[in-house]
Amino acid sequence: MLTLRVNGGEHRLDVEPRRLLADVLRDDLGLTGTHLGCEQGACGACTVLVDGAAVRSCLLFAVQVEGAEVTTVEALARGGALHPLQEAFRDHHALQCGFCTPGMLLAAVDLLARNPAPTAAEVREDLSGNLCRCTGYGRIVDAVLDAAGRMRGASSSPAVHRGEVR
Ligand code: FES
Ligand code: FES
Repeated sequence: MLTLRVNGGEHRLDVEPRRLLADVLRDDLGLTGTHLGCEQGACGACTVLVDGAAVRSCLLFAVQVEGAEVTTVEALARGGALHPLQEAFRDHHALQCGFCTPGMLLAAVDLLARNPAPTAAEVREDLSGNLCRCTGYGRIVDAVLDAAGRMRGASSSPAVHRGEVR
């Protein structure tokens, strides 16, 4: 039996050691916001947070994260309110098909926790491991910069810390 802590909840699961975190999140817990593209660490679509750090869930076995706090895109919106990054992605049209979006959002959560006031170059560098086939990236960079400003400027906005998206 494996105990997984995901999005603030605890789950006891019968999981074979060979199974990937991405598959367990999607197939066992129904958290299909975690997308699978390449399944070899190249695209970033499967990005989740493990103790606040962005990781590729297609490169981790579920048993490797026992005891850690896993955060998926489903945890970003709270109480019917979108996370500031989600609002900014919406406002800047930073998604088209949306396939890369969960991974982009969680990579950006990690970035802004480490660097609340990144430059455009730093956003591009940090998100360079997440591939998008649709947007050309410019709107994603604009959205992350805007969200960073919103999160710094609004004292009522929830803080984003490592391991704690709200
Ligand atoms: S599906 Fe994990 S990096 Fe592409
Ligand atoms: S919005 Fe389609 S892959 Fe990024």
